[in-house]
Amino acid sequence: MNKDRIILAIESSCDDTAAAIMINGKIHANLVATQKIHEQYGGVVPELAGRAHQSNLVPLVTEALKKAGINKKQLSAVAFTKGPGLIGALMVGSSFAKSLAQSLSIPLIGVHHMEAHVLAHFIDEPRPQFPFLCLTVSGGHTQLVLMKDYFEQEIIGKTIDDAAGEAFDKTAKILGLPYPGGPVLDKLASTGNPKAFEFPVSRMPGFDFSFSGLKTSVLYFIRDRELVNPEFKQQNLNDLCASIQSTIIKQLLKKTELAAKEYGVNQLALAGGVSANSGLRKELTALCEKHKWQAFVPAFEYCTDNAGMIAMAADLKFQRQEFETMDTAPFARS
Ligand code: KG4
Ligand code: ZN
Repeated sequence: MNKDRIILAIESSCDDTAAAIMINGKIHANLVATQKIHEQYGGVVPELAGRAHQSNLVPLVTEALKKAGINKKQLSAVAFTKGPGLIGALMVGSSFAKSLAQSLSIPLIGVHHMEAHVLAHFIDEPRPQFPFLCLTVSGGHTQLVLMKDYFEQEIIGKTIDDAAGEAFDKTAKILGLPYPGGPVLDKLASTGNPKAFEFPVSRMPGFDFSFSGLKTSVLYFIRDRELVNPEFKQQNLNDLCASIQSTIIKQLLKKTELAAKEYGVNQLALAGGVSANSGLRKELTALCEKHKWQAFVPAFEYCTDNAGMIAMAADLKFQRQEFETMDTAPFARS
């Protein structure tokens, strides 16, 4: 009887097809096939995402097994992202995981995508200790999560409209940058002046966020300047990127700082695709230095969507014997 915990994890909630192998809590393969097809449409097209997962998944799993030096008969469990996400995309991953688990007679593990983003902090050292506060910022979500235990995640604040990633992507689109705009805007911002232009920071009560006003103010700001100087956007691109990025970060970290004080936590973590943002990583670290708090910033490969984080959550569930039954179905919204 194999005493090793060998988990194959699948992530297919949006436009990244990902597969990972975790052996006894350590990642041995973490592969992502990013779907380039969406770039030409300026955003993710759900049906095309589902179709691309269908083509990418089996070859990617085969490659992950090969990379980890594992035969599928050695697997202890198969894990998949149960939701939230695009339902067609999720169904590709869940159907594959079900079939494989059933054919191998091994347990099936369903993982919540947002919980997994936070649990990515337990893949490598240094690991935070409970309780800690995690700012989870992605293309679909913006949440302040009070982490009391691995699966005791209390959402104490969230966006009431756009997610932080959407704020990056939508303002980047206004600037004429390609999709996804977040990483491009981040790069251009690095040589811009964040104080060049001032955009309003939303004043939501409590720990909630709002980002939809930002894109409107950027849109009107540029439209007005272009009436006077049609070249305004191009001539000020880096400063515009830096100023927009700084406005988004200001709101995110203001609420995070308030929440940390209110809940008396001294460890702050970042998770989700936007945690790859260089400005946000730097500013969170500076905030923690100021208060003598500890900052936890994930490795880049575990920021944007990946199956390593799904494997981490699944490994914890495997040890708790928390398995899915064969009638399980994915969900689009939590
Ligand atoms: O977590 P993720 O890969 O997918 C979702 O679950 O949504 O997050 C994707 C989001 C996109 O909005 C993308 O523009 C943003 O993360 N993103 C960034 C950066 N890298 C990815 N935003 C700002 N700066 C970055 N460096
Ligand atoms: Zn995500």
